[in-house]
Amino acid sequence: MKVSVCRKAHFNAAHRLYNPAWDMAKNDAIFGKCNNPNFHGHNYALEVWLTGEIDPETGMVIDLKILKDIIETEIEDRFDHKNLNLDTEEFKTLIPTAENICVVIWQLLRLKIDSKLDLKVRLFETERNVVECDGH
Ligand code: NI
Repeated sequence: MKVSVCRKAHFNAAHRLYNPAWDMAKNDAIFGKCNNPNFHGHNYALEVWLTGEIDPETGMVIDLKILKDIIETEIEDRFDHKNLNLDTEEFKTLIPTAENICVVIWQLLRLKIDSKLDLKVRLFETERNVVECDGH
């Protein structure tokens, strides 16, 4: 039987939603306040879900300490207290919407997590705005 386990994490980051192919009026129309040229911040909450068989030797799907360390190294160290548009390679040209951030996080974690485990990432940009990505 497969079991899902989750590790939660947080990071704070600033961003601006802006498409350089559009003029300011269209960016304002599409992105509203999120197009503020001086950026704005969010307290992002992250849930990383792994699904797999329980290892009969450990009784665990994965040691959550290992998952904690992967999230710290790959996500928190990379994005916490950063301006996503200016300070990160990942969003130099990719618009840092919650959707795109969720996909980037999924891709970064997928490289580090055993391929026998299914990975799902849920990103809360606010308490009410949530996106989810499972690689499909
Ligand atoms: Ni925003």
